[in-house]
Amino acid sequence: MTVNEMPTPVVTMPRIGDPAPSFTAATTQGDINFPADYLGRWVILFSHPADFTPVCTSEFITFASMQDEFAAYNTDLVGLSVDGLYSHIAWLRTIKEKISYKGMRDVEVTFPLIDDVTMEVARKYGMIMPGEDTTKAVRAVFVIDPEGVVRTIIYYPLSTGRNFDELLRVVKALQTADAFDVATPADWRPGDAVIVPPAGSCGTAQSRMSGDVVGVECQDWFFCTRELPADEVEARIRRR
Ligand code: BEZ
Repeated sequence: MTVNEMPTPVVTMPRIGDPAPSFTAATTQGDINFPADYLGRWVILFSHPADFTPVCTSEFITFASMQDEFAAYNTDLVGLSVDGLYSHIAWLRTIKEKISYKGMRDVEVTFPLIDDVTMEVARKYGMIMPGEDTTKAVRAVFVIDPEGVVRTIIYYPLSTGRNFDELLRVVKALQTADAFDVATPADWRPGDAVIVPPAGSCGTAQSRMSGDVVGVECQDWFFCTRELPADEVEARIRRR
């Protein structure tokens, strides 16, 4: 059998709404039992292609610099690449000692970085995309909620560094949707109007369109918004 005739291996990955696949792993901050150790908190589990690579380095500096901001929204960070612990440690030390990016320097990465030389976790989460690279993980992002459920999945290719403001925006949007039973429209940021869940009955549609529902503005029965001030959002989702 030639390589081309070999059956394509079945690749698994969690989907939005699935429980986050569990694993134990060695990390730069000690062993973790995932997601059990993180229940009660939001987590961003993300993969990067390799240690000692420039795009990944810029991402780690940015993520580490925003770590307190994510923590303010009850969100922990966990990184992964198909490299060993000693490589991770050496790379993170080099970042702190030598590398600056966009004015961020002397940055210490204190969130865990998983040793996944066996690719066990990367395969479980569908982080290896053989068309892109058979041994390096792509830039995958899994946002996992306090119950251990996958709530958002975002993938970037090897060549494109992530937008970390967008990742924080997604966390705030998910938390706002949960806290206020609303949805958030395109490019939403705290302070923007939110989407009221669609009318589930003809009666509700009718009363919304007749303007009976105080504070809800409907352009049509299915497109209704309400104001949600940023301070109200922050009071509910931001830790004091
Ligand atoms: C990087 O992080 O710089 C990188 C890693 C793999 C492929 C291309 C770029």
